[in-house]
Amino acid sequence: MELSEKEIDRMVEAATSVRGRAWAPYSGYAVGAAILGADGCVHIGCNVENASYGLSVCAERHAIAAAIAAGARVFSAVAVVTDSSPPASPCGACRQVLAEFGDFPIVLANLAGDRIVTSVGDLLPNAFGPDVLVKGLE
Ligand code: THU
Repeated sequence: MELSEKEIDRMVEAATSVRGRAWAPYSGYAVGAAILGADGCVHIGCNVENASYGLSVCAERHAIAAAIAAGARVFSAVAVVTDSSPPASPCGACRQVLAEFGDFPIVLANLAGDRIVTSVGDLLPNAFGPDVLVKGLE
């Protein structure tokens, strides 16, 4: 699916807004993510850190959790907003969690207005996914 500029703007705005609510007192690095469901709904998440550092959770995984909790199952795109230049891309764990739901575009954006459009498949080629388990059970 080709993403329209309007959809990209909508997701980047949502991710930028939720980034402002990140809980990142340890790293000082705020991240916002927005995921577009096939029904057009946008679900959001920010990173939430913890004094027990290893319990910190990334923005992308919180956005996926919010989307799943809202009943979404099929996704069209994700936007990730940071203050990095060039825009930062999702960590390995988040790439794997996104790949669970297929291959769709990922918009990497920053506060300076830079945008890079990539995809789950480009960021995590040959991902281990649900199809592997189905084949293993045959
Ligand atoms: N972080 C994310 O939210 N998403 C990523 O893909 C990479 C890193 C967060 C985790 C931590 O709160 C902060 O950024 C610094 O690593």
